[in-house]
Amino acid sequence: MATTIGILTAGGDSPGLNAAIRAVGKAAQRHYGMHVIGFKDGFTGLIQNRHIRLDGDSLSGILSRGGTILGTSRVKVHKVDLGDGKRIDMRPMIQRVVEEHGLAAIVCLGGGGTMKNAYRLHKVGVPVVTLPKTIDNDVWGTDTTFGYDTAMGIATDAIDRLHSTAHSHHRIMIAEVMGHNTGWLTLGAGLAGGADAILLPEIPFEVKAVADSILQRKAGGSSFSIVAVAEGAMSAPNRARHDELRHALDALGKGKDASELKAELEALEASRKHSTERLAEELEELTGLEARVTILGHVQRGGSPSTADRLLATQLGTAAADAIAEGSTGVMIAMRDGKAVQVPLEEIAGNRKSVPTDHPWIESARRLDICLGD
Ligand code: F6P
Repeated sequence: MATTIGILTAGGDSPGLNAAIRAVGKAAQRHYGMHVIGFKDGFTGLIQNRHIRLDGDSLSGILSRGGTILGTSRVKVHKVDLGDGKRIDMRPMIQRVVEEHGLAAIVCLGGGGTMKNAYRLHKVGVPVVTLPKTIDNDVWGTDTTFGYDTAMGIATDAIDRLHSTAHSHHRIMIAEVMGHNTGWLTLGAGLAGGADAILLPEIPFEVKAVADSILQRKAGGSSFSIVAVAEGAMSAPNRARHDELRHALDALGKGKDASELKAELEALEASRKHSTERLAEELEELTGLEARVTILGHVQRGGSPSTADRLLATQLGTAAADAIAEGSTGVMIAMRDGKAVQVPLEEIAGNRKSVPTDHPWIESARRLDICLGD
């Protein structure tokens, strides 16, 4: 009897997901003679056994399409919210679905949260293989993730476009870039787009340092400045307080009342939502220049994948089919030095790949006198 595999996409969508679905599906069918089914809407559809056949027709014409033909969702398989405040472990349900279909593996395409879910399933004996996708590029263990290159291109294009209007109005233009708690997207797009200041979660910033660099540019004859700020970037005082609260919470013994600390931490997290607008106000005050904010948001996740993302998704996708054919599960297919390699999920789950503060792009930024806020 032919082997059957499942595919699902989870977490935030990103360009290249369909290219990866196609690569896994076609390699599994054409090269290995497997049956392929797709679960709808990520782990939610797996739990509910909502699936479709992924045969030749459904896998054709999707290489260049954005989003995911399977749909996606964000859930934690070990505590799924039932809507009445109760949370339930759905892993036994998933085990039953896997048995019913006789799945040799479920290929889970996702980011950090998906790697954790997949590892939770692997630990209870569900055969999983994962592929790293996210525009944030923050999955541990792989040189890069698909979606990142496309999103970086979109953000670079946006920063390019902000230049002419910044120049005409002699303004500070601030572009807020996605990336969750890492600065890969902002650093890449900021550097490629010629931003004058680049603010990352990995380097807490002083507003005064940013304002000074803008005033210095003005004194040198440049009456406008472009600031690329990561959505997760934090000012140095906020970062210090944030870390203090986290440590205090970790140190608090069991049974102690943590409500005050938690409330302050939550308030600090919530205040990040409008931090770019506040940064604009502070920069206006300190420089006397007008500032405008552009929040790039989900436009960075939309549209057709770049050539690099299509190639990455295709190479990783076919390697996932190879891994399953050789009986390898509990692994993520990572890209390392141009090669697709298998990395055990236990090395990946729970880890995040941040931008190293001595990354060559950061060194280049410093050589160019780009303000990094420190
Ligand atoms: O992880 C991808 C990402 O786009 C992050 O950059 C961003 O913080 C988050 O997802 C946004 O999530 P949502 O689509 O749920 O608003």
